[in-house]
Amino acid sequence: MINIKTSREIELMSVAGEIVGDTHKYLKPYLKPGITTAEIDSLARDYIISRGATPSCYHYEGYPANICISINEEVVHGIASNRKLKDGDIVTLDICACYKGYHGDSAWSYGVGNISDEKKYLLEHTEKALYEGLNVIKEGARVGDIGYAVETYALKHNLGVVKELVGHGVGSSLHEDPEVPNYGKKGTGPLLKAGMVIAVEPMLNLGTADVYLLDDDWTVITADGCPSAHFEHTILVTKDGYTILTKR
Ligand code: MF3
Ligand code: CO
Repeated sequence: MINIKTSREIELMSVAGEIVGDTHKYLKPYLKPGITTAEIDSLARDYIISRGATPSCYHYEGYPANICISINEEVVHGIASNRKLKDGDIVTLDICACYKGYHGDSAWSYGVGNISDEKKYLLEHTEKALYEGLNVIKEGARVGDIGYAVETYALKHNLGVVKELVGHGVGSSLHEDPEVPNYGKKGTGPLLKAGMVIAVEPMLNLGTADVYLLDDDWTVITADGCPSAHFEHTILVTKDGYTILTKR
């Protein structure tokens, strides 16, 4: 069942989304060579709590950290540790916060120091793929239209589209219906209606689309070891478009 949010729910989700966007802005200057991912994770936790929210990922299905931090070939759900960021890395922060019972969810990939032209290309086109997907959203469009737009753009730019992980509805649960794949056929899938809130989140690889799960049971990495990027916004569907709730 796809929830249509009430105006009160939309207000709370706007605050949750704003906190997530602001957490990204707060953390960005810290993403320099030498900082550990555990330090980033605890800065994120403290900031989210200072805003009256809680980190949704913490203990979500047993997840052991506060936000997901994934480096280079790590696609999603990397776990904070004493690993240090290095010059030339790309790092994805996937941040979820819960405010008065409602969640916001946004991932963003950043370059650390000087990154290669290939990695710049991956970041540029994964971010653009997110907006390609968002720009088809309005009441009356279908979920398959989003996936079609993302996939078409990604394939045109020779990037691998991760299929095992998908976007999702967001609300009083972090993951609600519908699933929002980054592939699909136009005119198929659930109908979008004003008041729905969904997270659109392309995960694109410089190499093949294939991924696998590490022994820690969380971290997903690319099968060929090539870098991966991830850009995600939580949005509200409106009559003639969408509103980004996780603006930054
Ligand atoms: N934004 C991530 C997702 O949609 C949140 C994962 S929380 C975790 O998958 F606990 F599963 F890491
Ligand atoms: Co998500």
